[in-house]
Amino acid sequence: MSGPNTIRLSATDRGIRAGVALLRRGGLVAFPTETVYGLGADARDERAVAGIYRAKRRPARNPLIVHVPDVASALALIDLPEKGRRAAEAFWPGPLTLVAPMRGGARIAPICRAGAATLAVRVPAAPLALDLLRAFGGPLAAPSANLSGQVSPTCADHVMEELTGRIDGVLDGGDCAVGLESTILGFERETPVLLRPGGVTLEALEQVLGPVLAAGVVEDVAPTAPGQMTSHYAPGAALRLGAEEPRLGEAWLGFGPNPARGSAISLNLSPSGSLDEAAANLFAHLRTLDTLLGGSGTIAVASIPARGLGHAINDRLARAAAPR
Ligand code: TXA
Ligand code: MG
Repeated sequence: MSGPNTIRLSATDRGIRAGVALLRRGGLVAFPTETVYGLGADARDERAVAGIYRAKRRPARNPLIVHVPDVASALALIDLPEKGRRAAEAFWPGPLTLVAPMRGGARIAPICRAGAATLAVRVPAAPLALDLLRAFGGPLAAPSANLSGQVSPTCADHVMEELTGRIDGVLDGGDCAVGLESTILGFERETPVLLRPGGVTLEALEQVLGPVLAAGVVEDVAPTAPGQMTSHYAPGAALRLGAEEPRLGEAWLGFGPNPARGSAISLNLSPSGSLDEAAANLFAHLRTLDTLLGGSGTIAVASIPARGLGHAINDRLARAAAPR
C-alpha cells in the first residue's frame, strides 16, 4: 500500500531491484520513459492498479496504457491488424501507443481498461524503463505520474512535488528525452485513427502506414482518447497562445529568436527554434513559470509552427489554455 514514505530510487541495479520488490508487493513506483514519467503498477493485479487511480485521483472511466519490454509481449496482449503490426515494427520501442482489442487469454486486470473494449499497449524506449520491465518480468500499467488534470512530469522532482506520500517510490532517471506523451493510434476501422498526437509525428506515421485519420477529419470518429476530453495539462496561470510579445505583467514563453521585451519573467522553449528541444522543455517550463507567477496571472506563449512535433506541442498548449 502507498504510505507517507515515497522512496527515491537511483538509476542503478540496486534501485531497479528495490523498485521491482515494491511492485511485486502491489506497490506504486514511478519510472522514467522517454516521453514522461509513468506511475507503474503490476497490470495483472486489480488492487495494485486501483491504487494508481486513487493516488492520481483519476476518474474511474479513464483507461490506462500497459507497458511491456518488447513487440512479442505486446502482440501477446492485443490483436493488431496488419497496419498495427507495421507500426509496431517501425516505431517500437518508442513514443507510440497502439490501441486494439485485447486477446482472450491475456492476463490483464480489467480495471486497466476502465470499461473500454480495447487495450492500449506501449513498448517504451528509455533504457531504464526497459530494464525495470525486464527485471519485473510482467506488464506494468502506467499513466503519467501526475495528479489527474495536471501537467505530466518530465523529471523525478516533478513526480515528488505532486505524489510524495501517495506512492511508494520514484526511480530517478533524470530528464525525459522527448518530454511529450506518446502518440496514440487506434485500429477500430480500416484507416488507423490518431487518438492523441505525441512523440511520433503524424508525418512519420503516414510514411509507414499511408493515410491516418487525424482528430476532426472524420466527424463520427471519437475525436480523442477518453482522458483527453476535459481540460488537461493545466497550470494555475492562464495561457495566451500565439502571442507576438508579452503584455504588461505577463510572463513570456518564447520559441526561436523572438523578444521577451518588457517581461520580468521569461523562458524560451528553444532559442534556436528546434521543435525537439521545445517539446523536451515544454512541461518543465510551464511548471517553472506557473510557480514564479504563484499559480495565477497569465503566461503569453509565442506561436509554435504547426509541423512535426509542433502539432503535439500545440495540442498540449491548447489543453493547458482551455477554460476550466
Ligand atoms: O507517453 C505516454 O503515453 C505516458 C507514458 C508513461 O507511457 N503515459 C500516458 O498515460 O500519457 P496517460 O494515462 O496519462 O494517458 C493515456 C491516454 C489517456 O488519455 C487514456 O484515455 C488513453 O490514453 N487510453 C488508454 N487506454 C485507451 C483505450 N483502450 N482506448 C482509447 N484511449 C485509451
Ligand atoms: Mg496523463
